[in-house]
Amino acid sequence: MQHTPITPKFPHMLHGGDYNPEQWKAYPDILKQDIILMKKAEINCVSLGIFSWAEIEPEENQFSFDFLDKIINTLYENQIHTVLATPSGARPHWLAEKYPEVLRTDETGRKALFGQRENHCYTSPAYRERVRMIDTKLAERYASHPAVILWHISNEFCGECHCELCQNAFRQWLKEKYHTLDNLNHAWWSHFWSHTYTDWNQIHSPSPIGETSVHGLSVDWKRFVTYQSTDFMNAEIDAVKSVNPQIPVTTNFMGMYAYGLDYTAMSRKLDVISWDCYPEWHAFWGNHNVALVESLSHDMSRALKQRSFLLMECTPNTTNWRSISKLKKPGMHELSVVNAVAHGADSGMYFQIRQSRGSCEKFHSAVISHTGTEHTRTFREVSETGKLLRKIDSAVYGSSTPAKTAIIFDTENKWALDVIQGPRNIGLDYFGAIQKCYRYFWKNGINTDIVDETADFSKYELVIAPMLYMFRSGIQEKLRKFVENGGTLVTTVFSGIVNETDLCFLGEATEEKLSDVMGFWIEETDALYDDEHNLLNYQDLNYELSELCELLHPTTCKVLGTYQKDFYQGMPALTLNAFGRGLAYHIAASAEERFFDDFFSELVPQLNLERAMETNVPEGCSVTWREDAQGRKIIFLQNYAEESKEILLDKTYQDIVTDELCKDSLTVGGFSFRILRTLEETAHE
Ligand code: GLA
Ligand code: ZN
Repeated sequence: MQHTPITPKFPHMLHGGDYNPEQWKAYPDILKQDIILMKKAEINCVSLGIFSWAEIEPEENQFSFDFLDKIINTLYENQIHTVLATPSGARPHWLAEKYPEVLRTDETGRKALFGQRENHCYTSPAYRERVRMIDTKLAERYASHPAVILWHISNEFCGECHCELCQNAFRQWLKEKYHTLDNLNHAWWSHFWSHTYTDWNQIHSPSPIGETSVHGLSVDWKRFVTYQSTDFMNAEIDAVKSVNPQIPVTTNFMGMYAYGLDYTAMSRKLDVISWDCYPEWHAFWGNHNVALVESLSHDMSRALKQRSFLLMECTPNTTNWRSISKLKKPGMHELSVVNAVAHGADSGMYFQIRQSRGSCEKFHSAVISHTGTEHTRTFREVSETGKLLRKIDSAVYGSSTPAKTAIIFDTENKWALDVIQGPRNIGLDYFGAIQKCYRYFWKNGINTDIVDETADFSKYELVIAPMLYMFRSGIQEKLRKFVENGGTLVTTVFSGIVNETDLCFLGEATEEKLSDVMGFWIEETDALYDDEHNLLNYQDLNYELSELCELLHPTTCKVLGTYQKDFYQGMPALTLNAFGRGLAYHIAASAEERFFDDFFSELVPQLNLERAMETNVPEGCSVTWREDAQGRKIIFLQNYAEESKEILLDKTYQDIVTDELCKDSLTVGGFSFRILRTLEETAHE
């Protein structure tokens, strides 16, 4: 299947990145040289204006677009398109001086001084007004410019503001949600410790010097932060769209590890999902593991709109902000971009085109380094990547990623898990639980969507819900229907414990807890020290269990595996319940990775999940696929090991980079990849 183009004005794989020419205004020769070098590096677009507010509005209501005009026009004359940003991510000094309310207040009530970026108050009417003004001016000037293909709204929305304006907006949001204080007191269980609210003005955001014990408040505050940040972003979208609704909008997310904001809730008004991806290549835990983690975020980005997305930023070589900034070894840069494309990206874009000369990002790598020449390894590898994207453009751009498996990663669930004081305060590894389930599918070329609890599950055959502690309202009904209609559900330990305001479900076996679907009820949960383990015996093999062990009583489920130690030895640790036309499995403790590999190897062949190819890739490799308009598979074989790997082929494919036909087997070089296409049409539903 083919998606509509992400950027209709320039429907091609984008290759480019953040360009900050305002830093170089005093260096006209460098600006000229940039164009020459960008063309050599096969750059076809740049993101402009992200941090240009001081340049385009040097004083209040004094707008000056000459410099930006010249840059956009010159780039366009050289076939380089513009992704134009709104500059709200960082404001000029004059604005903060005149309207101090735009600066953030932290959770202890401390007001920030001017500095940094992405730290404005998203409630401040003054900030919203100044942002609306500059966004409108930018749109009036550029929204119909032929070079401008996409709006880049602000930059990496993140963080919280706890000022009085935000407190009042929070109270208002709560009034709309709960209507009465009685409802709120019940939802938050605030009669506990005499924390009963008797006036809306008593409500204050969570704070280390104030309230942290009311967990319903903590989760609702995070929801409000998402709501308010989204409202701010949507006002920006309205500003630019009201001038020309034709130009699509995006904002650069930060993948599933920036969970301060709920990206599903945020993405409704966005036309395009994009994200900034900075894998820690060559870290001691292994490139294969790094790639897996990044792939998860790519799959989440794609699943947000069920279509291709943009890799908006990655570093051409090193970052400057990690404790250790390692060089990417030869080949790794291109492989990393290919990984994004393999999971559904229609771009390879960088931070940034030219390396800053001063300030805090001067040691962050860039396409053009301080040498200002093309004679660098980074420049060569970036140019190679540009060539590759051009070569595969017609085959890959807009192709889809059919997925029949979903793994639930839910941001609200993460927030709730983060605040609980419960069985294991030294940590519950929610991300680890997701990664362990994901690995099998990632290695075996079975496309997987990473979705949250609000998703529509009806298109999937298999839904995996690791550690889904918080059942947000409606999820039970959706999962029940999914299984009833023949779906397979896998849940893991510590699932279905609380409702969406963090109140525990009452009763033994209840529909609210999905006990009918799962076929058991849980009596108690044991917690294990980090170096303590139980064992799960499943099909005569023992697997290590850690973190938490649930002690459950079957009602209708079968027991597939049991605990091997402690006073609950012999009790169920792995269960299966037949419900309607479907099946529901539960793993009652945190199992080691090996278990999931074996468990899914057994389960998956019974389902109708399409693999990239009928071949097992060697350790260190991964395989994934997209599907083109003719129903052909485009298969991305990736090797994250330093040495080459031999891959056996189940049939003949065409290598779309070299154009050669491949059969029997092929070699994938170290830190390299191969992109193949099936020869005949394959029919998919
Ligand atoms: C983020 C920002 C960029 C830049 C890079 C550096 O992604 O959006 O402006 O600071 O980090 O890695
Ligand atoms: Zn505020």
